[in-house]
Amino acid sequence: MSARKILLLGKNGQVGWELQRALAPLGDVVALGSAEADFRNPAQVREQVLALRPDVIVNAAAHTAVDRAESEPELARALNATTPGAIAEAARSLGALLVHYSTDYVFDGSGETARDEDAATAPLSVYGRTKREGEVLIQERAGAYLIFRTSWVYAARGGNFAKTMLRLAKERDTLTVIADQHGAPTGAELIADVTAHALAQTLADTGKSGLYHLVAGGETTWNGYARFVLAQAQAAGVALKAGPDAVAAVPTSAFATPAARPLNSRLSTERLQKTFGLVLPQWQAGVERMLRETL
Ligand SMILES: NC(=O)c1ccc[n+]([C@@H]2O[C@H](COP(=O)([O-])OP(=O)(O)OC[C@H]3O[C@@H](n4cnc5c(N)ncnc54)[C@H](OP(=O)(O)O)[C@@H]3O)[C@@H](O)[C@H]2O)c1
Repeated sequence: MSARKILLLGKNGQVGWELQRALAPLGDVVALGSAEADFRNPAQVREQVLALRPDVIVNAAAHTAVDRAESEPELARALNATTPGAIAEAARSLGALLVHYSTDYVFDGSGETARDEDAATAPLSVYGRTKREGEVLIQERAGAYLIFRTSWVYAARGGNFAKTMLRLAKERDTLTVIADQHGAPTGAELIADVTAHALAQTLADTGKSGLYHLVAGGETTWNGYARFVLAQAQAAGVALKAGPDAVAAVPTSAFATPAARPLNSRLSTERLQKTFGLVLPQWQAGVERMLRETL
């Protein structure tokens, strides 16, 4: 029996990088970045996928620059919707399972409770709108698929929110961080590991095909997240000018940005945990682990 062929698109991103590791035990992984598969050209990507004939396609590429998307909506649509739609067509004709990622930004963030997968979408931004269009195209065109909506993604590799807070806390006496957006910081490592587990189960039972919320457990605000990071750093003996108590709370309106952010990004992960028999750890566990690598 020949090994299963897995095509990974977006291999250099936060999630794509971790997927290179997590997918390896499941088959032969062919990993491509934007230099090899350019999402600005949907027809070309579709032909590349058809020529490679994978059994599984995992798409971690996206236009994730939320503010820049407001001034380049066509590019955001090509990367987040049109090309994923073209990949879904190719997946269907190959009988391949398609895995794709989406976002809490498909919601308007009203209310205080966690949304499940059936909650009404109402994106506030070009990024959110184009990501929602991508979900719909995949649902319409793919055969078996997994779409994971996640939020507040960080990775140990490259820059991230925690590293920025640590740098600022060494330079300044006080930090000012938004305290009215609620969600769960979710590690790229966790997303990749859950993807591998769910993918293996869905290959065995395509009845598990569908849309799932995938975020770490618990919730916080960007302000709470910053305080947690600084407290961990201090406990590890890092000298800071600004400790956790020097993180001032401000509303989102204090920082003007081109794209509006949802205030309530809480996502219910019950469907994912039940369907795949998985437990999602509290958000602090992943952040602590990333910090131990960073500090
Ligand atoms: N970041 C978040 O907080 C967040 C939150 C919720 C959901 N998500 C979703 O999670 C998924 C993974 O996000 P991430 O944070 O890992 O993204 P990321 O680190 O920003 O990586 C995005 C990848 O997209 C690729 N890309 C950009 N332009 C491209 C093009 N023209 N053609 C092909 N590929 C292109 C880049 O590839 P190269 O590096 O090769 O150029 C990059 O590696 C995305 O679907 C995103 O929408 C992210």
